[in-house]
Amino acid sequence: MTEILVENELFHLRNDQFSYVFRLVNGQFLMHVHFGRRLSTVQGDILRRFATVPEADFDRNEFRLDRLPQEAPTFGYGDLRDGLLRVRGEDGSDSLNLTYRSYAVGANKPALEGLPSAYDKTSACKTLSVTLADDRLGLECRLYYTIFDDCDILARHVELTNIGAQKLNIERALSACVDFHQSDYKLLTLSGGWARERHMDWRAIMQGIQGVSSARGASSAQSNPFMALATSNADETCGDVFAFALVYSGNFRADATVDQYGQTRAMIGLNDEGFGWRLTSGETFVTPEAVLCYSSRGLSGMSHAFHTLCRRHIVRGRYRDAERPILLNNWEATYFDFDEEKLLAIAAKAAEIGAELFVLDDGWFGHRDADNCSLGDWVEDTRKLPGGLARLSDAIHGRGLKFGLWFEPEMVSPDSDLYRAHPDWCLHAGEMERLTGRNQLVLDMSRTEVCDYVYHAVADVLTRVKIDYVKWDMNRNFSPAGSAGFPPEAQREVPHRYMLGLYSVLERMVTAFPEVLFESCASGGGRFDLGMLHYMPQTWCSDNTDAHDRCFVQYATSLLFPQSAMGAHISAVPNHQTGRTTGMSTRSDVAMGGTYGFELDVTRLPDAEIAEMKHLLTRVKGVRNTLLYGVFHRLQSPFETNGAAWMVVSEDRREAVVTSVRFRAQVNRTLPCLPLRGLDPHCIYHVEETDERLSGDELMTLGLTLEYPSGDDVSCSFVLHAAHD
Ligand code: DGJ
Repeated sequence: MTEILVENELFHLRNDQFSYVFRLVNGQFLMHVHFGRRLSTVQGDILRRFATVPEADFDRNEFRLDRLPQEAPTFGYGDLRDGLLRVRGEDGSDSLNLTYRSYAVGANKPALEGLPSAYDKTSACKTLSVTLADDRLGLECRLYYTIFDDCDILARHVELTNIGAQKLNIERALSACVDFHQSDYKLLTLSGGWARERHMDWRAIMQGIQGVSSARGASSAQSNPFMALATSNADETCGDVFAFALVYSGNFRADATVDQYGQTRAMIGLNDEGFGWRLTSGETFVTPEAVLCYSSRGLSGMSHAFHTLCRRHIVRGRYRDAERPILLNNWEATYFDFDEEKLLAIAAKAAEIGAELFVLDDGWFGHRDADNCSLGDWVEDTRKLPGGLARLSDAIHGRGLKFGLWFEPEMVSPDSDLYRAHPDWCLHAGEMERLTGRNQLVLDMSRTEVCDYVYHAVADVLTRVKIDYVKWDMNRNFSPAGSAGFPPEAQREVPHRYMLGLYSVLERMVTAFPEVLFESCASGGGRFDLGMLHYMPQTWCSDNTDAHDRCFVQYATSLLFPQSAMGAHISAVPNHQTGRTTGMSTRSDVAMGGTYGFELDVTRLPDAEIAEMKHLLTRVKGVRNTLLYGVFHRLQSPFETNGAAWMVVSEDRREAVVTSVRFRAQVNRTLPCLPLRGLDPHCIYHVEETDERLSGDELMTLGLTLEYPSGDDVSCSFVLHAAHD
């Protein structure tokens, strides 16, 4: 049950698991009190904890705000640390003195204007808004807090409104700040790069600032908009974890700063590097939404909260709960070298194996035989597709498959009709030479006319051709992030305006085409975030399709995202990215950790492999719902051991699928045992592969005995069913 208690100037939000508490000091400042384990009451003299001298008098003159834990710290007026907000007035000063005005409690969860945000259809959540203001600047600041009852998540965002006459400049507008009383934490972030996205990075925190950010225009493969502070004893199942994520897909920062007193300030929000926003009288700026999680059950508790958030409060539309079709994508099968005949041959084989959706990737439009042209010209290339997309789609559907199509709508090639007609429609900075990346430029989605073009270019194809799935790709970052559509003083607004433009296009798109399954992609997982998942239920995890490497990417991705959000495919061997060869069953077991599919030329496979694929696919289909929507448990970390293991358990705990991968072969060892989790301890499970009948408590204590095939990068997987009496 969610509650918001407001009594004696104390604000206490709680559900059955955690509390978030702050209070008013001197009738003016919002002091953070507690984020963590659920509290029944808060009655102690909280102020004393934050005094370094015996008498605690928190006025600005004594700079005591510098050690007061705060809800909305600002710059230039008493707190000397990094702040949540920085706003400059016409006199050039950025001293901001926000003081308390009022609060309101509402049932339900407000949506954020123009931005993706969590929603609640059950009306079980509650929202508190607290209004602060600075009279000198004429600035009103509203802090929003929503607490959910089915997951241990607090959603926060900030609204800034110019209620005065002067022009204001927002220089920093982060979404959430939590001041912790101590600094005995380790910091977890998900960092990497192209083809090795989201790897687990732990570091100790110390005095100063540490964290991650992106100024690339996208949330990025290099760092994900997420961080967690964990107590030193925390691991997969134990210890306290405080996690922060952003429902946003553009530039961000997430960091922890330890101050001179040993307190830790954790903040997340828009990256202020390169950011600015003009706020004229009457205007409101809305920050992206931050989602904060408290887990007393280590990383697993955190992941379960985020998975529930994602599944029930972020992802929308028909495919939120529907079975995802098993797809075959032609990218690694053909790259740009295909014609209708070749595609239909692959599709026919895919259908024979049991795939349900054929996806035509890059290269179907303009005259694109390589990555150096035609982005922006979304008209089929009749050299490759003489009957156009319509005939191809009909033929694919005729083979019993759905049809999906790749777009990269936010981009333009210098060699394209679109660029020739509108050379100023790309991000650029005046006369500076236009830098290309992958031979392309970024369309300026901060401009309404560009957004309209992009929407119609894609929508026209979706209207004209029967298309069931769209892969929405994005393959370069912003550099420079300038726009010809805005005056010089607004150039720092461009990256965020781009995101608002993109979100408006995506909202139109999913509203107009509710039957289409959208998968997001950015050179693999370069924009894998809760913002994109609000429009597209799944994201292509990584361009690295090697089963060994995927164990790392998918394992770490599961910290934040459910398996139904992760695109995972079987590809050819030797793997195109690593040159590594792994067996078909290992590749299949790893693909079962996400939305299962294929990415290889199945017409070249020998009959024996086709038969194996058919068999594997039949098995996957039998447990698809559990694989997609079961409760996910990480069992063995590839970052710490010689392998990786995970399992999913259906919500009623009557079905489970367990996967274990061993990296390096070992000789002369006893067989490993893998203790399971999340089962019903009293239930007897039938293990299909070994034909054993074992109780849940035995499986969770003694574990499953693993007998891998010989060799490196081998796996075994098990399907467990509650045995009938
Ligand atoms: C990058 C994606 O991640 C790949 O899967 C593929 O779609 C290529 N782009 C096509 O250019």
